[in-house]
Amino acid sequence: MSKLFVMDHPLILHKISMIRDKNTGAKEFRELVNEISMLMAYEATRDLQLDDVEIETPICKMQTKVFSGKKLAIVPILRAGLGMVDGLLSLIPVAKVGHIGLYRDPDTLEPVEYYCKLPSDIADREIILVDPMLATGGSAAAAIGFLKEKGANNIRFMCLIASRKGIDVLQKAHPDVDIYAAAVDEELNDHAYIVPGLGDAGDRLFGTK
Ligand code: URA
Repeated sequence: MSKLFVMDHPLILHKISMIRDKNTGAKEFRELVNEISMLMAYEATRDLQLDDVEIETPICKMQTKVFSGKKLAIVPILRAGLGMVDGLLSLIPVAKVGHIGLYRDPDTLEPVEYYCKLPSDIADREIILVDPMLATGGSAAAAIGFLKEKGANNIRFMCLIASRKGIDVLQKAHPDVDIYAAAVDEELNDHAYIVPGLGDAGDRLFGTK
């Protein structure tokens, strides 16, 4: 079973309360999503592999640690996932960015991939798949399935708010994918919105409705 990491840092919790507030406008919402993503990047990269290397300071030689060869890719699920990319890149500027877009077929209700552009060496990268809201878990599970079909084998999923159901669905579908969530909410409503949640993350990020 994959691990679930729920953030407990006061800065993250404070900022999550602010993005939940319906009076927070698009500009502030975007800035907060950016900041929360950056703070979460710190937690989500805690277990990255390090190698020992020798360097020379102005004073003497020393043994120290740097990232091992495994490189990172950030993959937002379009469109709301885009709001989390810059925050992650500000801590991990060397990461490459892929994109995946899905829609739900109106007849079969199955997720269909309509766009996917990934770094060519995706199989060699640690992937942080991002989407602010893990609601039913359907899109995230499908996106991970599509990434695996393309060779990805080391994926972690990061969201701002996860529903209990979304976590269950994702853990059952992909027990190898750890989940990082800033908050976990218990309910989904009849329209698959997370309750209390924060509304439609894409609309709030981009000022659409
Ligand atoms: N997507 C959103 O943007 N919000 C939800 O509550 C659920 C899915």
